[in-house]
Amino acid sequence: MHYGADYNPDQWPEDIWPDDIARMREAGVTLVNLGIFSWARLQPEEDRFDFAWLDRILDLLHEGGIAVDLATPTASPPPWVSAKYPEILPQDERGATYWPGARQHYAPSSPVYRRLAATVAAALADRYADHPAVVMWHVNNEYGCHVHADYSDAARDAFRRWLTDRYGSIESLNAAWGTDVWSQRYGSFDEIVPPRLAPCSRNPHQLLDFRRFTSDMLLECFLLERDVLRAHGATQPITTNFMGAFKPADYNRWAEHLDVLSDDCYPDPNDPESFRDAAFQRDLMRSLKPGAAWYLMEQSTGAVNWRQANAPKAPGQMAALSAQAVGRGADGILFFQWRQSVSGPERLHSAMLPHAGTDTRSWREVVALGADLAALPPLPPPDERDGHVALVFDWENWWGVEGLDHPHNGIDYYAEMHRWYRALHRRHAQVDIVPPERVDDRYALAVAPLLYLLRPAGAAALERFVAGGGHLLTGPFSDVVDEHDRLCPGGYLTRLGPVVGIRLEDFGALVPVDAVGPGEREALVKAPWGGFRGTVHAEEIEALGASVEARFTTGRRRGHAAVTRNTHGRGVARYLATLPDEAGVQTVVDAALADAAVEPTLPGLPEHVEVARRGSMLTLVNHGGPVAEIALSGRDVLTGEEVSAVRLAAWDWRMLWEDTATTG
Ligand code: GLA
Repeated sequence: MHYGADYNPDQWPEDIWPDDIARMREAGVTLVNLGIFSWARLQPEEDRFDFAWLDRILDLLHEGGIAVDLATPTASPPPWVSAKYPEILPQDERGATYWPGARQHYAPSSPVYRRLAATVAAALADRYADHPAVVMWHVNNEYGCHVHADYSDAARDAFRRWLTDRYGSIESLNAAWGTDVWSQRYGSFDEIVPPRLAPCSRNPHQLLDFRRFTSDMLLECFLLERDVLRAHGATQPITTNFMGAFKPADYNRWAEHLDVLSDDCYPDPNDPESFRDAAFQRDLMRSLKPGAAWYLMEQSTGAVNWRQANAPKAPGQMAALSAQAVGRGADGILFFQWRQSVSGPERLHSAMLPHAGTDTRSWREVVALGADLAALPPLPPPDERDGHVALVFDWENWWGVEGLDHPHNGIDYYAEMHRWYRALHRRHAQVDIVPPERVDDRYALAVAPLLYLLRPAGAAALERFVAGGGHLLTGPFSDVVDEHDRLCPGGYLTRLGPVVGIRLEDFGALVPVDAVGPGEREALVKAPWGGFRGTVHAEEIEALGASVEARFTTGRRRGHAAVTRNTHGRGVARYLATLPDEAGVQTVVDAALADAAVEPTLPGLPEHVEVARRGSMLTLVNHGGPVAEIALSGRDVLTGEEVSAVRLAAWDWRMLWEDTATTG
């Protein structure tokens, strides 16, 4: 179990370094991410490298017994780069340039940027591949975090090449993009530009491909540096830090290329439910590389600096969230950053070693957590069969759902996924977060709201899943388009129709009950297992083989089907013709969990206590609620002692070996 932080020694005079290392040892730090933003120091001019300072700090860290995840510094090109090669600067859709002055001011498809990035990565590997302190490589930092898409001329040229590879001929691109609409037919790939600012609705198929392209360009940058590091002698695992469900980068396509996944996660302490969103992020990491542990590469000890109101973590909350990460598969707990900066935008962002020094609550908590993590025995990797419920989450679908010109143009896919995850998390179901293609018989229930864009293999997997006995919950606005964002011959639900046993005739957008102005108001729905308010959509569906479980009781669709249940093969498929409100999501999830006979990971837990299974280990965390007395006995992972009951006060956590655990 590694413990540590981003370490930026180049922000400090060297005489502080020995103190850093002494304090790191006191805190139990075992690993630091080094040099993430050090390009200007490492390569002050194109033809000059300065490794002397890095040599010294690497040796000091090594002598101090602290391992290094050595970074390539390519997330922030130094001023000489942008001065000499202004063509590397990215542009937004209006052609405005992102100038230097912050970080990440590079166009991922710029050949010049890539050449320079490869050069500095090669130089680092040449010098440090065999350094005994270096145990891992950290490529770049949070790819795409600030510049979500680049529309520069470098992107234009690369987009044309990418499309040529994808479509082969301009005719097949014209077919995929429906360019006969609005006279957009292309004569050659050289006529295509990124979807820059345009007078009105841009071509949705082009927008979707541009999202794929953007993710692929960032991935190409990672692969380039990874391959350079390898070619120059690096044998250590190579990673880059993810950001949970981050829209611009399709991590389902990235994950296989990383030796180890790492993730940055900053739940908002002001949001009492944000621990469930952190759990979502951890489960996503667990699901992206099944059966493998991952690293929590960045979190904060206290407040961040980039929200409107930055709350510190409550006493104990940092350790509770760290235990949550370990329980959901993390083998490393690290922070941004080691020592709080005195300058720069992050001078008030919390760090392991705060401005106020070591006589602080935060430092004491840092030291205590380090000691606990050091006391853990080697933990089992997460097991591929830990999850019993699949939450179907898919980047291409996300991009599709949030495309424009839909019946309802206010859907937030990320927020929607989190609503469903939170409801499952409250019921202590262990959830894998997977694309439709990965739904299989290891799951009892698959929850797939808003499955607008469905690829043929995904549709086939869901059909197989239900036919084989699984329970599927889907709709509304599902199985509407193919992978090009085009309607399929035959209308809606052309693949899942037989599975859900309904016909979808038409959509109908709803506006909130308290909306000002005209519009069909949100409608009430009544089912035997409870009622809810339907929002966003009230679709016109007709039950064919399915039975009607719930009907709209108000509004234009009054008396018509709102929820249907169909048996298909040995399984069951529910379809929602509307999106339940907050409480309704829980009602529907509860009904689906009961129908699919999904048991909680542990029975009888209150909602503020979470439980996670990691192979043979169970982790319980009280996320700040009342004391919980849990009738559970077993062997404590941390102490090795037998416990006959678990008592968790606010922010307490406990890990037990599951094979020794008995409830009641
Ligand atoms: C991100 C970055 C870090 C730092 C933190 C601050 O995670 O990777 O460099 O800026 O945010 O929260």
